[in-house]
Amino acid sequence: MTSTRGDHAIGNTIGVEILGSGSHLPETRLTNADLEKVMETSGEWIVKRTGIEERRIAQWDKGEKSSTLATGALQKALDDAKVTAEELDMVLVATMTPDMPTPNVACIVTKNLGCRTISAIDLNAACSGFVFSISTAAMIMQSGLYRTVGLVGVDCLTTHIDYTTFGRGAAILFGDAAAAMVLRTSDNPSKGMLAHKMHSDANGSEHLFIPATREDFPKLDDYEERKLSKVQMNGQAVFKFAVSKFQQVIAETLEEAGISADEVDHFICHQANSRILDSARARFGIPEEKLLINIHSYGNTVAASAPLVFDELAQAGRIKPGQKVMFLAFGAGLTWGSSLWQL
Ligand code: UT7
Repeated sequence: MTSTRGDHAIGNTIGVEILGSGSHLPETRLTNADLEKVMETSGEWIVKRTGIEERRIAQWDKGEKSSTLATGALQKALDDAKVTAEELDMVLVATMTPDMPTPNVACIVTKNLGCRTISAIDLNAACSGFVFSISTAAMIMQSGLYRTVGLVGVDCLTTHIDYTTFGRGAAILFGDAAAAMVLRTSDNPSKGMLAHKMHSDANGSEHLFIPATREDFPKLDDYEERKLSKVQMNGQAVFKFAVSKFQQVIAETLEEAGISADEVDHFICHQANSRILDSARARFGIPEEKLLINIHSYGNTVAASAPLVFDELAQAGRIKPGQKVMFLAFGAGLTWGSSLWQL
């Protein structure tokens, strides 16, 4: 699916502002040295091939799971925005790792925070989930339906990792986290989403999936019981897809908005592998300060990844009114997309 929106200002009187952000990370660190103890790998290899030094891992027996991380992140975003939970009209949570099939994470978050009986929706598009969610929230808000929205990206994918040499391709990459934002409509229509792209191609779904049953394996011969409920990834195929689609989606979003890469103040990118981000920087001549890489500290945190970058920039005082920021992500599905904002 491709969905785009042209000139933000045309025919639109409602703007959308990002009022605040916050993030919440599990306490426990999983370092490359920890991984060396349980599988055939080396810290040197991991840093060279991915840029990752450590990640966080949620301890479910201590109550750390998607709903608790999401609640913590949204509470911090509300505090940052100086908005109360009662003011929220919708909570939209991007996740592929809900605590359980139902209730969804968004419902649990509204209960934990003491929201009214508002709209509470989970959106699953794997690592693209947050970028698809911020575009979806913007479109709903620009329609005038909701004024104040809590948006969260959260994932605890480490529960689906095989921490043995068999699973090392994925084991080194993923970490758990939540990051959130509070959005509010504005009577200044120049603020908000300028352009967006949402793409999917399920022909590549076999390269990154979590099988629930034997029948979920595209090739039945690949089935082994130990693989059930664990990430199955063809790292090289996903890497090639990511490098090409990342560059393509930046180009088409700039074209849609009618601006050049120089006019974007921050490229807020899903952190999957620092080499993928380096390739985009080289292709568009993006200086280091415009594309923050924080993968060394957190690994790939799936739907939390892009908002975690935004929050780090915001807390450092580097997000300013009038800037243009482009959110970008790609992931399982396969999915990929962008959301370009005028702050
Ligand atoms: O959000 C989207 C999620 N996924 C991604 O973005 C994943 C994208 N892919 C990647 O980041 C990379 O493909 C990986 C980091 C997963 C793997 O890196 P690579 O450079 O593509 O490695 P490779 O699969 O081509 O393997 C190269 C070598 C192989 O050894 P031989 O056959 O050359 O002797 C692998 O067995 O590296 C070996 N290898 C490892 N060695 C140490 C693979 N994984 C590891 C490991 N530690 N963890």
